[in-house]
Amino acid sequence: MTTQAAADNGTAATAAAPETAAASGSVSNSNTDSDTGQAPAWRFDTLKVRAAYNPAEHNHAFSVPIYQTTSYEMGDTARGDRLFRQEELGFLYTRVGNPTVDVFERRVAELDGAAGAIALASGIAAVSHAILNLADAGDHIIASPYLYGGTHDLFKSILPRLGITVSIAADLKPDTLQALIKPNTKALFVESIANPTNIIADLESLAELAHANDIPLIVDNTFATPYLVRPFEHGADVVVYSATKGLSGHGNIIAGLILESGRFNWGNGKFPQFTDKAFTLRDRQDNFRSFLEVFPDTPFTVRVRLALLNYLGAALGPFDAYLALLGLETLSERISKQLANVQAVLDYLKGNEFVSWVEYASDPGNPQYALAQKYAPRGSGTIFSFGFAGTIEQQEQFIDATKLFSYQVNVGDAKSLIVNSPKTTHSELDAAEQQTGRIPPETVRLSIGLEDPQDLIEDLDQAFSAVFGRRPNHADNG
Ligand SMILES: Cc1ncc(COP(=O)(O)O)c(C=O)c1O
Repeated sequence: MTTQAAADNGTAATAAAPETAAASGSVSNSNTDSDTGQAPAWRFDTLKVRAAYNPAEHNHAFSVPIYQTTSYEMGDTARGDRLFRQEELGFLYTRVGNPTVDVFERRVAELDGAAGAIALASGIAAVSHAILNLADAGDHIIASPYLYGGTHDLFKSILPRLGITVSIAADLKPDTLQALIKPNTKALFVESIANPTNIIADLESLAELAHANDIPLIVDNTFATPYLVRPFEHGADVVVYSATKGLSGHGNIIAGLILESGRFNWGNGKFPQFTDKAFTLRDRQDNFRSFLEVFPDTPFTVRVRLALLNYLGAALGPFDAYLALLGLETLSERISKQLANVQAVLDYLKGNEFVSWVEYASDPGNPQYALAQKYAPRGSGTIFSFGFAGTIEQQEQFIDATKLFSYQVNVGDAKSLIVNSPKTTHSELDAAEQQTGRIPPETVRLSIGLEDPQDLIEDLDQAFSAVFGRRPNHADNG
């Protein structure tokens, strides 16, 4: 991992942060085997609380410290020179690197099996920076129709103004996508578990198609988290997160991440960003070098840091990284309990006379069940939608009548949330786009939290009663 600092006079120069576990491929911890010097191959639940942090390197602080500092002492001018020439690794300026943020980045990289990671100020910054890192004016992207509304509008309204065109596919069938590929196509972008439809992307077939066309597969794994779906094991090249959601899980930060597999060939001729020689990467003999030459293992995330974060500035602050690390410590425990709650709420909604449909891929009756079993065997997430069987006015009355579910546009919180997605989180999509995206007007999205499931069910039950004047009948209980 490398950082780049803006000097006081506003000019930028480069310097590197400490060699990281993600970059070196090793687990960073204090428990190295005394015989081999190797770190043990820890499992997911150990990594989420221990990876990428050695207290001995931080005054023995057991909790990851919040490095609330703008910049870092360079020492003397000789060291400053080495730092800016990337001959010595060290932090320079928090916009491009911070020790607390660094632990967060490397810990998630460990959880996902990534070669490198970079944190950003929001999930949408992760999405936009991932695209801007591989596409310039004149380039083209292909995107899933099953996306968060903000991502959809970024692709539809903002990127084209920068000269990057985006084809939002009609579906995710290989033939549909292949027909959209053009010589200037630079990436295929999908959500692993889509917002709000719970549609599962067939990552292996999508990766195969992308690679056959020499382009990377970018996967937004926000709704899944690395606990439920592991995109790199299914061929993804770049993974993005809104860490605002289930990854941190408490609805108290805005944060994002970009991770890379380290396997995509950015030197295949389609991506001059990585092979062009750059002045800022020159060596002591003034030879200009490319990102691929200097950072062969992690060119994608290092370029996000040095070329985008440095000049666009969407840096994650250390306090938010600290909160993200705290949330991450209970990722598996939270999601496991939330999945059990999802099951209880699903059982209540299925067969409910006031519910026209329920979309949850891991439900055995769902057409996507086999895909869900393959990619998300523990369950297809903590967020799903159902169709309200009534008028839109009644649907709004229903939402207003809930007392425990909170009416919010967030998801992945420890507390349960409800929203009318077509009018809020996906209001950027016009009627035709909502139809293609499978978000009909009656859609109600639930994000299931950690409450007692019976309280959640009773809350929905009383809200239905408030609208229809009686409790719903269930097909299975008459
Ligand atoms: C799937 C998905 N990706 C990205 C984002 C954007 O994340 P953030 O709100 O952290 O910017 C969201 C937000 O809802 C999302 O649902």
